[in-house]
Amino acid sequence: MSNIFLVGTHWGDEGKGKIVDVLSDRADACIRFQGGHNAGHTLVINGVTTILHLIPSGILRDNCKSIIGNGVVVSLSALNQEIESLKKSGIKIDTKLFISKNCHIILPTHVALDVAREQALAEKSIGTTGRGIGPTYEDKVSRRGIRLVDFESNIFESKSSDLMSYHNFILDKYYHQNKIDIEKAVNEMRVEYEKVKDLVSDTTHLVNELSSNSNCIFEGAQGTMLDVDHGTYPYVTSSNTTLAGLLSGSGLNVSNLDYSLGIVKAYTTRVGHGPFPSELNNEIGRNIAKWGGEKGATTGRDRRCGWLDCKILKESVELNRINGLALTKLDVLDNLDKIKICIDYGDINYQTMSTPNVKYIEMNGWESPTVGINNFNDLPLNAKKYIEKIEEICETKIAIISTGPDRRQVISRDDIFAK
Ligand code: GDP
Ligand code: IMO
Ligand code: MG
Repeated sequence: MSNIFLVGTHWGDEGKGKIVDVLSDRADACIRFQGGHNAGHTLVINGVTTILHLIPSGILRDNCKSIIGNGVVVSLSALNQEIESLKKSGIKIDTKLFISKNCHIILPTHVALDVAREQALAEKSIGTTGRGIGPTYEDKVSRRGIRLVDFESNIFESKSSDLMSYHNFILDKYYHQNKIDIEKAVNEMRVEYEKVKDLVSDTTHLVNELSSNSNCIFEGAQGTMLDVDHGTYPYVTSSNTTLAGLLSGSGLNVSNLDYSLGIVKAYTTRVGHGPFPSELNNEIGRNIAKWGGEKGATTGRDRRCGWLDCKILKESVELNRINGLALTKLDVLDNLDKIKICIDYGDINYQTMSTPNVKYIEMNGWESPTVGINNFNDLPLNAKKYIEKIEEICETKIAIISTGPDRRQVISRDDIFAK
């Protein structure tokens, strides 16, 4: 048995979904432990694309259980939509998906508050996905949140009505926005809950049982720099995306964790606002965005692009106890004659968003196609040098290299499950 923690090393969209998909043929379970449907994880199998938001990326495998752990915030309508769409593609759900009864649920008023706050912040906004993630976690921490278990004890109706009245007061009096129809919202959520109630259980015990006897993948959402404690605060999400979030959000016994796999894109991207020291506001940045198809999988927003930030990569390795890395989207850099790696900068000034003195090293590009290469030895020499330079800087082995969006376009240098 072996348990792998898979975490984004930067600001999300590193290609986590693709790597989970590659590894899940050997996994007995795949577990999400934080975030919600702000995530968008893309899987491409024989040219067919699936984007998952809330359901773990192992769901496409027949023999892999999928668990939504207690740390995830759940929109019941988004969950049912995702289940329906998977069922239409012939994916079995009922015997494979397990949802923690302790998950907090996203109310329509949480979404309205998220949107209203962003509007009010105007040019100082975070650039959230507008899914109600922040307000739901706030209510969780303030101990007034609504959990799936509340539906069974029949306190859901009164508890959620009270909370939504409070939200409506803020929406109306502070933000001057329309109030949400509470009775309608409560009835709709009850209907949505009835559709999934057989999937709801105590997943903590299940996680520990499975992780003691079989192969599990713990699928991080977002990335290390979006962590509410360790990221580029306040331009972060509202959960712990790093190792600590894995433990609190799934109940995993830490002694069962075997391997932390950091997912790093061959260049760096960010969607939403906030500092990005190695950002390329020029033609190279626009070309990388075009070649890499850098549009958000959840909101469709353009992703900002820049050179690989290895200062952040080193911090991620330390913070997440990363044992090895998966480098994705190497093929996107195929056409560049020069490639830079950002190695250092001073502290970020959050008032001006400026970063003094960004230091780079420059490497020669390989200017030949790497798309679909499956063997490390077949890579062009300069691509190997780029990979080895990253390994040298962050003192960590690159165990997997992804050379295209499809499941088959991958180089495996280490058997991660054997570690
Ligand atoms: P995630 O949120 O970390 O799962 O990443 P996203 O799915 O949001 O974004 C990654 C995008 O890159 C998706 O469109 C993937 O299909 C695509 N992708 C993943 N790996 C590769 C790769 O090695 N090469 C190319 N060209 N695309 C990739
Ligand atoms: P995956 O799992 C990239 C960003 C938003 C915004 C900030 C806060 O696909 O990598 P939120 O809605 O969470 O309150 O927004 O976090 N963000 C992501 N960026 N990938 C994601 O998920 C993201 N989830 C949230 O753009 O900057
Ligand atoms: Mg994504």
